[in-house]
Amino acid sequence: MSYPVWDAPIGYGVLMGVIAILHVFVSHFAIGGGLYLVLAERRARRNSDDAALDFLKRMSRFFVLLTLVFGALSGVGIWFIIGLLSPAATEVLIHQFGWVWAIEWTFFVVEITAAILYYHSWDRITAKAHLTLGWIYFVAAWLSLFAINGIITFMLTPGRWLETGSVLHGFFNPTFWPSLVLRTGICGMLAGLYGLLLAAREPEGDFKARTVRATARWGLLGLAASALSLAWYAKAVPAAVTAKATLDLSLPGASLQAALWLAAVLAALLLLALLWGKRLPAAFATVLMLVGLVWFGAFETWRESLRKPYIIHGYLYGNGLRVTEATATRQTGLLTRADATTGDLGLDLFLRTCRSCHTWSGYKPLKPAFDGTEPGFVATVVQNIHLLRGNMPPFPGNAAEAELLATHLHARTDQRPLSARFAGAVLGRQAFAIRCAICHPVNSPNDKSKSFTGLSAGEIGGLLDMAADLGEGMPPYTGDEKERTALIEHLQTLGRKVKP
Ligand code: HEC
Ligand code: HEC
Repeated sequence: MSYPVWDAPIGYGVLMGVIAILHVFVSHFAIGGGLYLVLAERRARRNSDDAALDFLKRMSRFFVLLTLVFGALSGVGIWFIIGLLSPAATEVLIHQFGWVWAIEWTFFVVEITAAILYYHSWDRITAKAHLTLGWIYFVAAWLSLFAINGIITFMLTPGRWLETGSVLHGFFNPTFWPSLVLRTGICGMLAGLYGLLLAAREPEGDFKARTVRATARWGLLGLAASALSLAWYAKAVPAAVTAKATLDLSLPGASLQAALWLAAVLAALLLLALLWGKRLPAAFATVLMLVGLVWFGAFETWRESLRKPYIIHGYLYGNGLRVTEATATRQTGLLTRADATTGDLGLDLFLRTCRSCHTWSGYKPLKPAFDGTEPGFVATVVQNIHLLRGNMPPFPGNAAEAELLATHLHARTDQRPLSARFAGAVLGRQAFAIRCAICHPVNSPNDKSKSFTGLSAGEIGGLLDMAADLGEGMPPYTGDEKERTALIEHLQTLGRKVKP
């Protein structure tokens, strides 16, 4: 709780996503590309294939530039970003896995040294020594994946670590092995995609034909391996975790579906490349690469979305509080534990309880969710965010702090009543979206449409009068007369739409 909050006008989820996805897209290639280079070099040397050796030399230049410069810089970028966005989580990870990181960095140093030497020594040392350098590169790179894989998978499935606190239990957690195989498959696939990018630029001819075919095969084999291990991986995630994540958030389902479709598209494109051979256009290889990037992004988004509302599942919430800490702060108050404050208590509460996932009026904005409502409504919602759609952690402050935050938020809303901004059916829909659908989205397990089927306007009015008694945490209905009439009509419409 002693960390200051970084309040920049950006969506943190998007910022983290963009940097992390670009980083993994390059760093997985750094591993797969290493294996591609040594295996292709071994073959080319055996066959005294000078054209292939020349191609590999050029590839190793592109490879060293991309992986060392972009890979290393974006890796450092990730450290900056996680330190800024989630200092508490970064602290836990460093405390648990300090040695693992030290090991990973050692592999990384070996990896980059070998890569630089490999690139510079094509014609300067014996073939055997050169290949050895290549192997050292690949093995060190893969071992660094082995190390970091334990930390990434730990965050979603800490497994027995939650009880034992043992670093080994945390590292070799339930998704460690499937994820390692999956990511190794991705490495191979990316070697294919990057390789095709270069092979497609070769002049049309026999050399291009065989290089494109061999490289497309890498893509297909890697894709097949990752598709199979994705199923294994999904199975290794505890069913309760997946069920909770997919209950009322569409993102996990949508991103998994996108990942599966894109894998099919990738497979089709790679087959096409295989058939095209020497006529493969450079533009086509670029498209393949972009599809691969979006595919990888969809997979990582799915994996990350399963973890909500935690950063470390079952241990640390997205807002940076430990589960046990948050239980205590609900009694004792949150701000008493904050060292770094802005001087505005309401703002501090917003920054420390909502800002890790929302902005006020930009990315995932809160303002539209509260425009036209009353302080009492905002306060009830704040105290019950764990009931809303979105898998949010419970509000971690005490009752007085919830009031304080609600006052702060309400003062910044558009305070005209909804009925002054909307009319008729639009007003009804808007009132429903703001006052009900945040907890009862239509077509979700919390959909209450059925409860309104066949009810008269008077009966629904009666329900609204006792709204606060319908469920623990449900706000009283506080809209004005015009809004109320429109909302009742909308609820009747919803009730009529329910399929018997
Ligand atoms: C760990 C992340 C996280 C934290 C912390 C968090 N939220 Fe959310 N919240 C979400 C997600 C995800 C959604 C679903 C919105 C979406 O899918 O875009 C959501 C939705 C909402 C909604 C419904 C809006 C809508 O468009 O459906 C409200 C209101 C809301 N949050 C209020 C709050 C308040 C107030 C706080 C702070 C006290 C807070 N949230 C803290 C992640 C979070
Ligand atoms: C902050 C979350 C929240 C909001 C906002 C909310 N509800 Fe609820 N509602 C609940 C909870 C919690 C329950 C009790 C558990 C359940 O039945 O799912 C509940 C129960 C209900 C029930 C169930 C009655 C029953 O016994 O079957 C109805 C009907 C209902 N709500 C309608 C509404 C309507 C209409 C609105 C908008 C005016 C609304 N709710 C807004 C949280 C909320």
